[in-house]
Amino acid sequence: TNRTFTMIKPDAVENGHIGAILEKITASGFRIVALKLTQMTVADAKEFYAVHSERPFYGELVEFMSRGPIVAAILEKENAVEDFRTLIGATNPADAAEGTIRKLYATSLGENAVHGSDSDENAAIEGAFHFSGRELF
Ligand code: GTP
Ligand code: MG
Repeated sequence: TNRTFTMIKPDAVENGHIGAILEKITASGFRIVALKLTQMTVADAKEFYAVHSERPFYGELVEFMSRGPIVAAILEKENAVEDFRTLIGATNPADAAEGTIRKLYATSLGENAVHGSDSDENAAIEGAFHFSGRELF
């Protein structure tokens, strides 16, 4: 068993998809071990996405991710990181497989409904960015 970190991004929160996305996540065998509604400041988003700071879309990404509330969660499942990325689908919803969260709920490449960590190491870093020990169950 291991863990991944996810965010339901501002677009999906604005569009009323929190419940449907959490339902899909738990129905797919992930156990929620931390969960909250929160909002990243511009500085938080810059730090969280620092790995993309040289990319042309960095400014747009930071503005998007800080514009409204998100749902942050830590999820537990065997093979969590890889299985969760399969569940969310390709970065661009136009390329995402049928039934994936991005296919169902994302609006565009930039506003793509959910985040999923890309490695066990980043899952731990990203989870610790959003949650303290007391918030983890
Ligand atoms: P995350 O789970 O959010 O990390 O997505 P990912 O791992 O599938 O994609 P990646 O880490 O490469 O990019 C991070 C995020 O930046 C994406 O999820 C998009 O929200 C955004 N993004 C990526 N490419 C573009 C782009 O070309 N334009 C814009 N506007 N945003 C992009
Ligand atoms: Mg990524």
